[in-house]
Amino acid sequence: MAEQTFSPGLAGVIAGETEVACVDQGQLLYRGYPIEELAQKSTFEEVAYLLIYGDLPNDSQLQAIKASLDKYRPLDAALVDALRTIPKDTAMMDVLRSMVSYAGHFDPTSGDDSDAYRERAVWLTAQIAGIIAARFRFLNGHEPLDPKPGLSHAAQILYQAHGEEPDALAERIIDLTLVLYAEHDFNASTFTARVICSTLSDMVSAIVGGIGALKGPLHGGANEAAMEMLEQFKTQEEATAWIADALENKGKIMGFGHRVYKNGDHRAVILEGELRKLAEQKGQQNWMAIYDAIKEPMVNDKKIYPNVDYPCGLTYYLMGLPLDLYTPLFVASRVTGWCAHFIEQAADNRIYRPLSIYTGEAKRPVKG
Ligand code: CMC
Repeated sequence: MAEQTFSPGLAGVIAGETEVACVDQGQLLYRGYPIEELAQKSTFEEVAYLLIYGDLPNDSQLQAIKASLDKYRPLDAALVDALRTIPKDTAMMDVLRSMVSYAGHFDPTSGDDSDAYRERAVWLTAQIAGIIAARFRFLNGHEPLDPKPGLSHAAQILYQAHGEEPDALAERIIDLTLVLYAEHDFNASTFTARVICSTLSDMVSAIVGGIGALKGPLHGGANEAAMEMLEQFKTQEEATAWIADALENKGKIMGFGHRVYKNGDHRAVILEGELRKLAEQKGQQNWMAIYDAIKEPMVNDKKIYPNVDYPCGLTYYLMGLPLDLYTPLFVASRVTGWCAHFIEQAADNRIYRPLSIYTGEAKRPVKG
């Protein structure tokens, strides 16, 4: 029998091969392209195409994916009605999980080959943004808005949520976070989606599973959790006192640490640069002082670096977005990575079925 190894949390275990993304010497690459360059030079639509179709689009391919996104944006009337009935205090991630599942009943695409999966991925990407915006409208006492064809994906989400087109800065920042969040190889939610795919289940089920995994604060939920932490401080001094206490008590600080990056997450560095500009433009440097008061002892004393969720929480906050929307915006982006992995898994599948070490009762008879 082959040697058996046990790695809690599957740390260090290679569970599959992928062409979608990798972390190469601490640098995240989407299909070989460095994240820094994509963040500077590409829009979310280009990155979505890259992940779903395998390479960056030329002009006509880019126009085609934008047209498909526009075609697939309108939500089915039955879905909008169902959305209306969900209790107001239901967390947005829970709403999204249910509504993506529900949307699956109205999937306009058909077929189970790679081309059909790619089309379904574009449809899911369009629908998820629409569901988030429609829910946001209901919570604010408004009816959902029809999409406005021609807007970027980032602008569309903000337009359909707020009822007016965003300014260039807001559009650029949402677009940047969508680019940064789109993909990250075998992370927990992607692995979840691949496991679901590996049973020969369907793409919608895999995405619903991915949403469930992403929701947790150790994963995508960390952007909301990090902002909840920052929001409790009014001054830098309060934050400094709190972090000293938390570290002494071995508390877990949300938005810090990473299974893969032990010397810092590039995405956090990229986003933090934009966050500092945003805070300055909005005259909100007091928030940066609080942000730095938490970050400095984490980095200098603990050598635990911010991950992308730390700057993201405050970025969305300074844009005036409600906390409940932060992780759903992560979904709006990561759906593209999940779908890319689904397509890859389906094309060369073997069911995931690890082993466990049994720690329960020894064999015993049933009495009577
Ligand atoms: N705060 C305080 N200590 C930490 C943190 C943190 N955020 N992260 C890691 N550590 C400590 C941990 O306690 C452990 O210390 P010790 O060796 O003394 O027990 C050491 O660093 C190694 O950590 P680990 O728990 O073995 O790391 P992991 O690879 O199992 O977990 C993680 C990675 C991301 C779940 C973890 O760092 C964490 O819980 N971070 C906070 C939640 C978070 O920000 N998640 C977002 C992840 S990245 C983007 C995303 O997926 O959304």
